[in-house]
Amino acid sequence: MNPKRKLLIAGNWKMNPAPAGFDADDSPFRSRKNVDVAVFPTFLDLRRCIDAGIPCGPQFGRPEPTGAFTGDISMAMAAKLGCQYALCGHSDRRQFHHETDEEIAKQFVAAIDNNLIPIFCFGETESEHDAGKTIEVLKRQLQPIITILTGSLSLTADRFSLAYEPVWAISRGDPNKPAATSKDAQEIHALIRSLLPKDKQASTRILYGGSMKGSNAAELLAQPDIDGGLVGGASLKIDDFRKIVEAAEKNGQNNG
Ligand code: 13P
Repeated sequence: MNPKRKLLIAGNWKMNPAPAGFDADDSPFRSRKNVDVAVFPTFLDLRRCIDAGIPCGPQFGRPEPTGAFTGDISMAMAAKLGCQYALCGHSDRRQFHHETDEEIAKQFVAAIDNNLIPIFCFGETESEHDAGKTIEVLKRQLQPIITILTGSLSLTADRFSLAYEPVWAISRGDPNKPAATSKDAQEIHALIRSLLPKDKQASTRILYGGSMKGSNAAELLAQPDIDGGLVGGASLKIDDFRKIVEAAEKNGQNNG
């Protein structure tokens, strides 16, 4: 982590109930002085997080403010509810809802237009990884976002974040799934940063999202281009999530 960028630890609860104790006074889901924390619950639990003072956002939001889109909610509705963040382009949405890079770019813009902080997710699948296509895939997925960032000098990096999700490392319920090594993750994060417009390179937060947990967070977060985590499985276990946030806090103190 670079001292100029405040770490962000985001918990993605996916389609799971809020873990017991999430709203306790000492909950690890509350932001700390030198670490931002956010949670992505199901739509049903957004209101509970907001009422508990926990920064949160939807796992998906449509760009249109209202309309005939059964089963969806919009970025505008999430903002009106009191959300501060939104996920865009999570690998589950790309896989199970066939969201395209262009659709995801529209969600990204709509989130920003509604004063939400989008976390743009992208990453290669296992077969793309094995075929040596990682860089090609990342460039393709990032291109619409780079175009948006290039065209907007006023879009400062506190208004969005990126999350690199190596899909082959995502736990999908298997707590023993290995993350990318911190060295490999750092290499990819540095490459991603180099693809961003020059004026956004130093300030953009790039989170790592593939089996970050209490046992590997400190090492991953110590890498200069890893600015936080998008955490799935470990965000459902309060004690493990607490370890990640504490590792981030320590890292922030060392750098601050
Ligand atoms: P895991 O942390 O369970 O690998 O999930 C990563 C992810 O999909 C975060 O959104």
